[in-house]
Amino acid sequence: MVLWSLVLGALLVVIVGYVCLPGILRQRRPQEPPLDKGTVPWLGHAIAFRRNTFEFLKCMWTKHGDVFTVQLGGQYFTFVMDPLSFGPILKDAKRKLDFSQYARGLVLKVFGYRAINGNNQMIHSASTKHLMGNGLEDLNKVMLDSLSLIMLGPKGRSLDASCWREDGLFHFCYDILFKAGYLSLFGYTKDKEQDLLQAEELFTQFRKFDLLFPRFVYSLLGPREWLEVGRLQHLFYKMLSVKHNQEKDGISNWICYMLRFLREQGAAPDMQDKFNFVMLWASQGNTGPTSFWALFFLLKHPEAMRAVREEATQVLGKARLEAGQSFPFQLSALQCTPVLDSVMEETLRLRAAPALFRVVHEDYILKMASGKEYRLRHGDIVGLFPYLSVHMDPDIHPEPTAFKYNRFLNPNGTRKVDFHKAGKKIHHYTMPWGSGVSICPGRFLALSEIKLFVLLMVTYFDIELVDPDTPMPPVDPQRWGFGTIQPTHDVRFRYRLQPTE
Ligand code: HEM
Ligand SMILES: *[C@@H]1O[C@H](CO)[C@@H](O)[C@H](O)[C@H]1NC(C)=O
Repeated sequence: MVLWSLVLGALLVVIVGYVCLPGILRQRRPQEPPLDKGTVPWLGHAIAFRRNTFEFLKCMWTKHGDVFTVQLGGQYFTFVMDPLSFGPILKDAKRKLDFSQYARGLVLKVFGYRAINGNNQMIHSASTKHLMGNGLEDLNKVMLDSLSLIMLGPKGRSLDASCWREDGLFHFCYDILFKAGYLSLFGYTKDKEQDLLQAEELFTQFRKFDLLFPRFVYSLLGPREWLEVGRLQHLFYKMLSVKHNQEKDGISNWICYMLRFLREQGAAPDMQDKFNFVMLWASQGNTGPTSFWALFFLLKHPEAMRAVREEATQVLGKARLEAGQSFPFQLSALQCTPVLDSVMEETLRLRAAPALFRVVHEDYILKMASGKEYRLRHGDIVGLFPYLSVHMDPDIHPEPTAFKYNRFLNPNGTRKVDFHKAGKKIHHYTMPWGSGVSICPGRFLALSEIKLFVLLMVTYFDIELVDPDTPMPPVDPQRWGFGTIQPTHDVRFRYRLQPTE
């Protein structure tokens, strides 16, 4: 008994020592950025970082300046906060910074998907073919049909459609965008009513996963939640399984292309199912929340709503929706909406907050715009959090927390692309999609579908907040770093189809 305790005790000491020692021994070397290991061995600043990434980084930035290294759960992260110095990191001409290594680990943990070789290139070539250019035009048509089906029902406008209904705006937007996006990308069966029911069920489960997601990524779930996440993962594998979906037609070329590639590379069927889950997450996790913020900002800023409606009337003409009809909508209108484009850019500036990470493959010299050079160590991670260092910089965007619908418009009404920091023109003046090798390959589709939805809402519907004085709901601090942030609670609104006379 005593012997066992001794052995166990010794083992524990060895393990703890092994885990914590590198942290305790690590010292800042010449030319390295300021090092902040935090007070807790191994964990370092992990708790503060996970609780509120935005506040934590703000605090470190004030304390250490534009570049600093922090310990987070046994890993060292160097954050670069000066956007004029992003260029070399994002271009990474010498290929010393690696995105896919970081992404692979995350995707395996969260979705159970073991990335094949060339995964990233496959996603990006599929997306260039099918989520941009002509491919995107085809998808826009499907998306319009899907939105009509979901918002009006299979029979088009019904007679009693112009009575007021009430809902949570966040739930309303997320539900519609999710179902439309899912059906457009993953396909329909012969039975549309059944498809709608299945999409509805998928959304209910997706939201459960969505709410657990940030703490799951950070391994902070309690035992019950952990079991729940496992259950949800298996449910998604099943609902999205390639076998189950063989009878579907109208699966998007985007998904088809990627699944064909996986089959050719010999990926097992269960890996293909898991891949579908990854793609469901990537394609549906941000568009709904972004649409919510866009509509909410419009509802809170009547001058912006007026400008968007005026532009919509200009490009779409006086819209009329007769009984039994689905939305008449000229898709080419999506190309001529500078005002709505500015509203979208402003919404994303205020609410899209991704963190970008790259693993340092070889010791690396970071050249700052100031001319200063820093050494970064092999095995560490470089992090960017453009929301704080770019989107909220008052030098680049005066009054950064205010919603200004025309912030991205020139006085002559064209798209504004000239932004400055410290008197220098800045290339990355917003980064809602990430940048460089990992830039979101779905960004054009995302913008089309959100714009389409917003245009339908402002053109064919009357919408208003139940309480016009509803304050801006606070954002959930756990979601900093994961894309579009979400409100901590929903906002009641009412809507109706505009009466026909
Ligand atoms: C408003 C909506 C969206 C936002 C804000 C958004 C943002 C992002 C961001 C920040 C990344 C990661 C960049 C990085 O890690 O450096 C990303 C990756 C990705 N996004 Fe989006 N996205 C949106 C919509 C979409 C849509 C509609 C699709 C597809 C139909 C899509 C497909 C993907 C894929 C496949 C990746 C992973 C790319 C890779 O592994 O290299 N996204 N997105
Ligand atoms: C509109 O204004 C911007 C800058 O204010 C300028 O660069 C652009 O050429 C102008 N475009 C037109 C069509 O006048």
